[in-house]
Amino acid sequence: MKNLDDLLSEGVRGRRVLVRADLNVPLDGDRITDDGRVRASLPTIEKLTGAGARVVVTAHLGRPKGEPDAKFSLAPVAARLGELLGADVALAGDVVGESAKSAVATQADGSVVLLENVRFDARETSKDDAERGALADELAALAGDGAAFVSDGFGVVHRKQASVYDIAKRLPGYAGGLVLSEVEVLRTLTGDPKRPYAVVLGGSKVSDKLGVIQALLPKVDKLLIGGGMAYTFLAAKGHSVGKSLLQQDQVESTCKLLEEHGDKLVLPVDVVVADRFAADAESRVVDADAIPADWMGLDIGPRSVELFAGILAGARTVFWNGPAGVFEYPAFAEGTRGIAQAIVDSGSFSVVGGGDSAAAVRSLGLPEDGFTHISTGGGASLEYLEGKELPGVSVLEEGS
Ligand code: 3PG
Repeated sequence: MKNLDDLLSEGVRGRRVLVRADLNVPLDGDRITDDGRVRASLPTIEKLTGAGARVVVTAHLGRPKGEPDAKFSLAPVAARLGELLGADVALAGDVVGESAKSAVATQADGSVVLLENVRFDARETSKDDAERGALADELAALAGDGAAFVSDGFGVVHRKQASVYDIAKRLPGYAGGLVLSEVEVLRTLTGDPKRPYAVVLGGSKVSDKLGVIQALLPKVDKLLIGGGMAYTFLAAKGHSVGKSLLQQDQVESTCKLLEEHGDKLVLPVDVVVADRFAADAESRVVDADAIPADWMGLDIGPRSVELFAGILAGARTVFWNGPAGVFEYPAFAEGTRGIAQAIVDSGSFSVVGGGDSAAAVRSLGLPEDGFTHISTGGGASLEYLEGKELPGVSVLEEGS
């Protein structure tokens, strides 16, 4: 597939370049709590503006219902992007409407316009090819003659959406630096990773991760389970889990996984339980088979951290997705911190996949450079490891 360097060598001065970025950042009101994705989008945008392109960025924020909704406005993102670029970023008031048209019409070479949340237009996520195509037509028209498309939102390449997929069928498409580097790292994991290869999966739902667990088990040496989904595994082992998160309808398939791959799957041996889901809840450490009926597990316990750290210390390749507990509350952050620290200490080829785990690394103050790669895409990296096609990448490959 063609990449950003190919586009730069064609020359972009005065041309409009539509960049799909993933600027889907966590917000507290209108305050960005982790700007990792905005930072990750800078190199591609800066290369383009530096070469004199008129950069039009399109991105989504959250999951609005296909119509404008102030809570999901990209305004805080435009402000942060401008601060980091050290230049004004004009935010259009709509996606492809009058405001977007006038913002791009007056755009200078080397400047950046950010279109408002592309999911304010219901056609972006439509299942209907023609509807998505109509939005992609309008985006292409907005970019105008001689325009190019740079796909740089790795976190969204698993979505067959108008600004990710259909647009690449209308404008000459190039992989941005972020998409290229992310795909390259993940290829190392699916190719011939150095062994032992350990994967740590957390997060809340087994149902979201079942596909990737099944795909990974034959390939990995150890698969360590933490987070909310660990309780469905503990239930499958016959333990009562009190009020912990439990997906009863997944217990049977989880049982099967344990029967077939019990030698590779590693579960917590103790957990931090709380009397309610709150930062100031009363908490204590109990064995994983002794969770009291009225309590809920919100983190893995210290013996589990020790067990996991011992395995990670010997690993040469590690992939980690999903926090081990409710790390946003300090009382339940130690499991996630312990795992992250063990990965750093292992000195292995280590990849952190995804929004929550990447945000955890930063919010717990762990050294980002202690990991080989921190991915900006949770869902996208999991789907890649599961062996699924990433529409936003394959459309670029088809185009070259
Ligand atoms: C993400 O946060 O993983 C990406 O931005 C994709 O968002 P989505 O899951 O709402 O499509």
